[in-house]
Formats: sequence, C-alpha cells, structure tokens
Amino acid sequence: MAYLIFGLAVLGHTTLWISVINRLHARPWPESLLRKVRHLHDVCVLLFPILLVIGAGWLGPQLLRGGSWLSLDWLWITVFGVCGSGCVWLAFVVVRHWLERSPRQLTSETSHGIDVAAELGERPISPGPYHVLATIPWNEQFTLEVTRKTFTLPRLPEGLDGMRIWHLSDWHFLGTIERRYYERVVREIQTESADLFCFTGDLIDRMECLDWLDTTFATLDASAGKLFILGNHDWNQRPEEVRERMQTAGWIDVASRVESLTIRGIPIAVGGDETPWMGTEPDFSSVPESTFRLLLSHTPDNLARARRAKIDLMLSGHTHGGQVRLPLIGPVFSPSRSGVRYASGTFWKSPTLLHVSRGLAGQHPLRWNCRPEVTLITLRRG
Ligand SMILES: [Fe+2]
Repeated sequence: MAYLIFGLAVLGHTTLWISVINRLHARPWPESLLRKVRHLHDVCVLLFPILLVIGAGWLGPQLLRGGSWLSLDWLWITVFGVCGSGCVWLAFVVVRHWLERSPRQLTSETSHGIDVAAELGERPISPGPYHVLATIPWNEQFTLEVTRKTFTLPRLPEGLDGMRIWHLSDWHFLGTIERRYYERVVREIQTESADLFCFTGDLIDRMECLDWLDTTFATLDASAGKLFILGNHDWNQRPEEVRERMQTAGWIDVASRVESLTIRGIPIAVGGDETPWMGTEPDFSSVPESTFRLLLSHTPDNLARARRAKIDLMLSGHTHGGQVRLPLIGPVFSPSRSGVRYASGTFWKSPTLLHVSRGLAGQHPLRWNCRPEVTLITLRRG
C-alpha cells in the first residue's frame, strides 16, 4: 500500500507541474524564459520521486520501512495532500476527455492517411534541432492525415452552402523536417479545390527556411483568397519579414483587422487574432449582424472573446493536439490557459464553432497517437 501511495504522489506531483507548464506556455513570454521554466519543470519532475523515497520512505517517517502513516508531521502531510490534489485533477481531466463528444454541428468526418516516409523511402529529416526525436521508432510525424469535416451552421447564408475551406496550421519550417515533406503535403492539398485557404500561424522557426514558401504556400490557390495570421513561433523570429514574404506569395494578412470578402456573391467578414503575442483583437463591431463571421486565431484561448464578437466559425492551431497522446489519458502537453481542454478537435460554444487543428509539424518533430493534419472543411447551412 505504501508503494502505491508513493506512486500516486509522484503521479499527482507530475500532473500539477505539467498543468502549470501548459498554462505558462499560453503567456507571451520570451522563448528563453519559457525554456528556463521547462528546465525547472524537468528537474523537479525527475528529482521529486528520489527526494520523496529518501525523505519520507527511508529517512524521516520511514514509510517504506514499516513506519506509521499516523506519525507524519505537517510537512509530509502537506506534500502528500498537494500531490493527492494532483491525482484528483488528473482524474477529472481524464474523465472529461473520455466524456467529450463531438458537437452536433460536426455532421461528418472522414480522413485518409499518407505515409510520406514510406513514399520517399526514408524519413525526410536533416541534422538540425531535435533531430534525434525525428528518428524515434513509431514516430507519426511523417504520416499525414488529410481530414474532411462538414460543419452545419445555422447562420451560414444560403448562397454559401457547400463552401469549402482548407484549414492549415503550425507548419514550423525549421530544417529538421525537410522541405520535400512539405512539398508532398502541398501536392496532396492541390488535389482538392476550395473557396478559401486559412493558415492559423506558426509558419517558421528558422528564417533561412523562408524560401520554402516559393514551392509550398505560393503554389496554392483558392477561388476567394488565401488568408493568414502568424503565431508565437513567428513572433520569436522576424514576423514583419515573414508577413511580407507571405504577402508576396499571394496570401492576405488579416491580423488585428477585419477583411470583407465576397464569396459566390455573398459578403463575409474575416478577422485575425494573434494576441497575446502580437497586435490586437479584430473589431467586428461595424460588421452587419447578418454577415457571416470567420475568425483566424492562433490560440484557442481567444474563444471567449470570439463568442462575444458573435463569431460563427473560429479556426485555431497552436496546441498541436498535444503531439503525444497517451492511452486512456489523452494529450498531456498543450500550451493553453485551458490546458489540454482544446488541444485539438471541434467544439461548440454558442454562437461559435471552434476548430482546432493538430497542425502539420512542430519545433519538436515527435508525434505519437497524434498525426499531423491538414483539414478540408465544408460548410453547410442548417
Ligand atoms: Fe505551433
């Protein structure tokens, strides 16, 4: 029993640290500071079991050597109490994960996978940051999932019934995952036409890769336009240069403003939100009540604001689906004020339907039980 309680204490302690880390990574802190916080997290998570076993198991109350739990002093009662609360929190998150159901606005979902590494005969990786992660067996980073989702929305104008949007997010050009991987994904996207392309940020982690736009984003085309915002990783590079190059590639920057588009003769309003890292929230106050409203927001954390602005459809990325999803538990790491709540998927919070993409890549090229994704969305009226 003592070993079981010690195990649960370690589990609860780790849960609390991860919960804090997820929420701190939702803040607009410099990457250098966040890296230090992550290192502190790593040290505490690894050291705690050792300190617990030595401090409470072998020395002090000697709980692993037959000592009595009734003799615990206030320090160890506090430690086990806090760790216990971590276990309760973990149980809540896991139960919520399993009870989560897709909203009825998601009326169909299909997908197919493409093993890009198998097609190329090798994993498309080069020496670069976190290169070792990309070589780990069973890493799903190179198994693309092309997802097709149909959203049935009450306020969609009749003339836009059947409108199609490619939702792309979090491509993270870094160099460790090679350019040919992205070019293969683009070729797959080009097989399906759409009215709109929407990219929801985190294009780049290394400015030298900006030229990759010429054979990827620049070659995509949609009848009503290609819209983009940037994310926190772009913010850590040279965002104004990235914006310029995206615009040169034919993409429209909708950050911190509202763009009026006419699709199939029907006006819609599209805004972009890069907060809390850059700019301001887009102002929809002058948009007529009846106009369909689309929001590109890098983080799903802006959902409450989107609801207040009566956004019909909000597209986000940033959380990568957690990248590693454990059996039973689901996603673990997700940089959001809501933790893993909106790690990926479709969520209805009236009057807004939120779609969070798992994204295509990441600074850390490791995915398990969480394939990289591009999503073709079809909107239906209903
Ligand atoms: Fe990202």
